[in-house]
Amino acid sequence: MEIIHGIPHQFRKPAIGLFLDALGEKIVPAMGKRSRAEGLLDKCMKSEGCILAVDGKNLLGMAGLNSKETSFVEAGLSDFIRFAGFFRSVWTLPILASMEHPTATDEYYIDMLAVSPNARGKGVGRTLIAEIEKRARSLKKKRVTLQVVDTNPRAKKLYEKLGFCTIKTYNTYPWGLMVGWTFRKVDFMEKRL
Ligand SMILES: CC(C)(COP(=O)(O)OP(=O)(O)OC[C@H]1O[C@@H](n2cnc3c(N)ncnc32)[C@H](O)[C@@H]1OP(=O)(O)O)[C@@H](O)C(=O)NCCC(=O)NCCS
Repeated sequence: MEIIHGIPHQFRKPAIGLFLDALGEKIVPAMGKRSRAEGLLDKCMKSEGCILAVDGKNLLGMAGLNSKETSFVEAGLSDFIRFAGFFRSVWTLPILASMEHPTATDEYYIDMLAVSPNARGKGVGRTLIAEIEKRARSLKKKRVTLQVVDTNPRAKKLYEKLGFCTIKTYNTYPWGLMVGWTFRKVDFMEKRL
């Protein structure tokens, strides 16, 4: 397995595919169609916020990271309106924005983490998190943070094993139902470095 910082051109499409296959439930219903979410990500996903795990030509996993300085997806209001349409944006954006996390100066935030289904359970997720912590330290960050939904106990178990603690829990019910979310609670987790 090789770790790559950034997204080489040949991995851009597979990375968007992996993102939406693994975590699309959070954004595709709000955008109405998967193709709209693909368009938005293709325009707004920033290479500098990504770490990939690859094996030759195969994408095994990826992480998207936000700091005070850079974001994994830099989508403005006009981008959202362009891909989701004006009327859909009016009612979905405030709900999506409730999941947005403003990143503090001392913090490195894992905006997304996904491992390709046939590579799961083989240590790829663990390796990506170790790489994220290494990068966070080199950027002089004091903590790594993330959010995990209540329908994803496997991911939460992994984070707890690696030393993350839940410091806040948010409710996304009932308003999350409006954008098709099946989860009801979101844990905000932190690991101090
Ligand atoms: C969560 C995810 C990133 C974990 O990646 P992974 O590469 O499968 O995880 P690893 O192989 O590094 O496993 C690390 C730990 O995860 C847990 N784990 C792994 N496979 C598991 C399985 N089949 N069932 C339950 N827990 C499992 C174990 O706690 C494991 O610890 P161990 O190595 O001491 O046994 C991956 O399952 C995934 O992409 N899921 C879909 C997207 C997602 O949920 N992303 C996280 C959003 S917050």
